[in-house]
Amino acid sequence: MKKRVTKAIFPVAGMGTRFLPATKSVPKEIMTLVDRPLIQYAIDEARAAGIKEFIFVTSRGKSALEDYFDNAPELENTLRKKGKTELLEELKNTNMDSGAIAYIRQHKALGLGHAVWCARRLVHNEPFAVILPDDVIAAEKPCLQQMVEAHEETGGCMVAAMEVPEDKASAYGVIDIKEDMGSCVSVKGLVEKPPADEAPSNLAVIGRYILTPKVMQNLNKIKTGSGGEIQLTDAIDAELREGRDVFGYRFRGQRFDCGSKAGFLQATVAFGLARNDLHVEFDSYLRELMSMRQAAQ
Ligand code: UTP
Repeated sequence: MKKRVTKAIFPVAGMGTRFLPATKSVPKEIMTLVDRPLIQYAIDEARAAGIKEFIFVTSRGKSALEDYFDNAPELENTLRKKGKTELLEELKNTNMDSGAIAYIRQHKALGLGHAVWCARRLVHNEPFAVILPDDVIAAEKPCLQQMVEAHEETGGCMVAAMEVPEDKASAYGVIDIKEDMGSCVSVKGLVEKPPADEAPSNLAVIGRYILTPKVMQNLNKIKTGSGGEIQLTDAIDAELREGRDVFGYRFRGQRFDCGSKAGFLQATVAFGLARNDLHVEFDSYLRELMSMRQAAQ
């Protein structure tokens, strides 16, 4: 019988240099889309997919993340006394059950593959999910839930896949497609950040994965790859070379690259417009702004 996916790794040990100077003291994952930090979107998505154990791979300067998931008794008491029940409910979402969350340190930012490998002892012999919180995905059914459901049929490893413009493919891990079955593709090979004219397709891997424990063993052997980092993509590609299955899953939803400034701003506008409490005011502001810009041109 296939094991259920109940563990997720959240690699949050990167340096976030694209958001300096903010990330000098604020972890990228604590930066907010409207009023919720990126990490909260990732946790909600994981919960919806049935994840019960949350493993954070952190680094120096990320203690704000640990505080974020802790109880805040004084704050909660004050809100209770003031009758602010809605805010109290909102805060409850940030509390994690005792023992449900674990923090592992990555002492040196050696790459995403290395960050995932740091959590190997907590994963044991089970399939596990990996969620990169800076990829935020707006979807009717949360992306990881779509993947878990598809994975129940396929088994093996699964990566979230998205069509990107051809000239952008070299910024991603790219899928060499063996067979295209619609929402799912079976994978022949994975190439991390291929040179512009060598991408095997325009189907890119983005920050959601369901992996077998074998990938952890592959990571033991993986040498530095693209960008001088230990790449997760290379350890998944090794599965293919040993004859095991890897699938790409074309999720339904819109992905925002919140690790980049442009993507973060786009997400802020999209999530702001989607909020009932902000929509009217924000929408009319944006319209006014655009018409002023057009008049000025
Ligand atoms: P990025 O490539 O976005 O790197 O990592 P970064 O350091 O976060 O940001 P920039 O490029 O310097 O602005 C993708 C994901 O992998 C994690 C990051 O925290 C992010 O979630 N990561 C990356 C690690 O945990 N450890 C690493 O050594 C590298």
